[in-house]
Amino acid sequence: MTTLTLDRRDGYAVVTLNRPDKLNAVNAEMLADLDAAFSELDNDTTVRCVVLTGAGPKAFAAGADISELHEQTSSTGRQFAERGQRVTARIERLGKPVIAAVNGFALGGGCELAMACHLRFASETAKFGQPEINLGIIPGYGGTQRLVRLVGPAKATELVLSGEMIPAEEALRLGLVNRVLPAADLLSATESFAALLASKAPRALEACLEAVRIASDLSLLEGLHAEASIFGRVCGTEDFAEGTQAFLEKRQPTFTGR
Ligand code: COA
Repeated sequence: MTTLTLDRRDGYAVVTLNRPDKLNAVNAEMLADLDAAFSELDNDTTVRCVVLTGAGPKAFAAGADISELHEQTSSTGRQFAERGQRVTARIERLGKPVIAAVNGFALGGGCELAMACHLRFASETAKFGQPEINLGIIPGYGGTQRLVRLVGPAKATELVLSGEMIPAEEALRLGLVNRVLPAADLLSATESFAALLASKAPRALEACLEAVRIASDLSLLEGLHAEASIFGRVCGTEDFAEGTQAFLEKRQPTFTGR
């Protein structure tokens, strides 16, 4: 993998988009590398949480690589979008929490990658936006859909129509990010949170992610049915037995992922 790095820590992993001279713009090679990295992480039971960040001081990712985008035609454009959507869906459906540590520009495909993560921690210097309109196109890696779900249709419409960038504090106010941190603390604070999540029961983490993810696609009644079914499934895990037993014995639980 040449466009990103993958570092394993104690219980979690850090994936770093690594084209800093191009502000980590997402090209076809990086999409393939992301697909391979998240597939590897999916199969690695020692990894219980993932942090996704960008190399260098300026950018998380400044969008799809515009030199590749420029080559698209009406017949290839759809596949271009679908390739990006497959990777964002893989991240969203990983079954382990993925936290974006947004260390600078998160524009276009960069904002879309961040939105596919389950949580977003941003540095005070981060900037978010969907500037595709300025190139004469629309977001294609899920931006029009996930932005609406995160910030509501009014603000999402404003952002995709205007292409304007918003600073981290505004992104926080809109619900686009979970936390804003000083740039110097971003990665360490995000990694501490990843370590905290890595100490939880993996199958319960996965169940939380599944239940929350399907909420926006279901009616309340359907969602409640789904929640009860997922709840029942998790009650059958060894980690549930261990978690409740540990509480009753006034000790810390040891979760195995079974
Ligand atoms: N695709 C390809 N290359 C990109 C890129 C992208 N999305 N974003 C930045 N780069 C490249 C620049 O071309 C430049 O390369 P060069 O040094 O070989 O000329 C390098 O990254 C640094 O970018 P630069 O524009 O010089 O930095 P800046 O600080 O002046 O501006 C931005 C930063 C983010 C405002 C500006 O780079 C930008 O508008 N990028 C495009 C954002 C966008 O439209 N994204 C959506 C794409 S669908």
